[in-house]
Amino acid sequence: MDALIAAKELVKKYGDKTVLNGVNVKIDKGDVVAIIGPSGSGKSTLVRCLAGLEKYDGLVTLNGAPIMDAKTAKGKIGMVFQSFNLFPHYTVLKNVAYPYHTIKKINKTDSLRKAKTLLEKMHLEDTQNQYPSTLSGGQKQRVAIARALIMEPEIIIYDEPTSSLDPELAYEVFETIKNLADNGYTMIVVTHQISAVRHFANKIVFMEHGNICVEGSIENVLNNMNNPNLKKFLERVEFSDL
Ligand SMILES: Nc1ncnc2c1ncn2[C@@H]1O[C@H](COP(=O)(O)OP(=O)(O)O)[C@@H](O)[C@H]1O
Ligand SMILES: [Mg+2]
Repeated sequence: MDALIAAKELVKKYGDKTVLNGVNVKIDKGDVVAIIGPSGSGKSTLVRCLAGLEKYDGLVTLNGAPIMDAKTAKGKIGMVFQSFNLFPHYTVLKNVAYPYHTIKKINKTDSLRKAKTLLEKMHLEDTQNQYPSTLSGGQKQRVAIARALIMEPEIIIYDEPTSSLDPELAYEVFETIKNLADNGYTMIVVTHQISAVRHFANKIVFMEHGNICVEGSIENVLNNMNNPNLKKFLERVEFSDL
């Protein structure tokens, strides 16, 4: 059976700088994969390639079919960014309804109705008429998650979703991610928060210098003391994560 999403010999260069060095990775339906690794190791570039947001050499497939660009990935792969990327001039309700209406071509009434139901499920209904600037960072990120979910994507990819949030707001976002994991969503989460990863991920990928160096189950990776760079990285982040 095809993996839900797979990269084969993925290479990304900026000028003569190689940022992804022939990455191979497979993610199955229902997997929740955390991507960790030092700053600059290529985590964002990898997930952006998987989402069709970058040009690359090699092959990325979704259910066996090549993803060449954002157009082929649209609606099938949801992306959540550190900086939320909500529309400042739209209310919460309209932010969530907008992609469903414009990309899936669902009429306005049905789009707004679906957005409302989703916001209720996520306990965000009280914010539906607010503008993003009036929300907490945790609420903003949960609205961004709702906006990804409305498309019923096959996979949701988060790139450091809590990096700009205070710990208690990060907790609320991770709770939402855990809840989605418990409901069988396939997700990739780039994060430094190893203590949170233990609660929702089933796999970890450790990247360094544009390569995947270690991958496997949470226990195997987090207890892997054979790779000195992983060991050093974990000591550093777990210290700052205390
Ligand atoms: N648009 C770009 N132009 C040139 N270099 C880039 C660009 N985006 C990322 N890079 C470089 O690619 C490397 C990997 O970056 P990135 O994927 O953002 O790493 P990470 O997310 O792990 O911190 C870094 O050295 C970064 O400077
Ligand atoms: Mg990054």
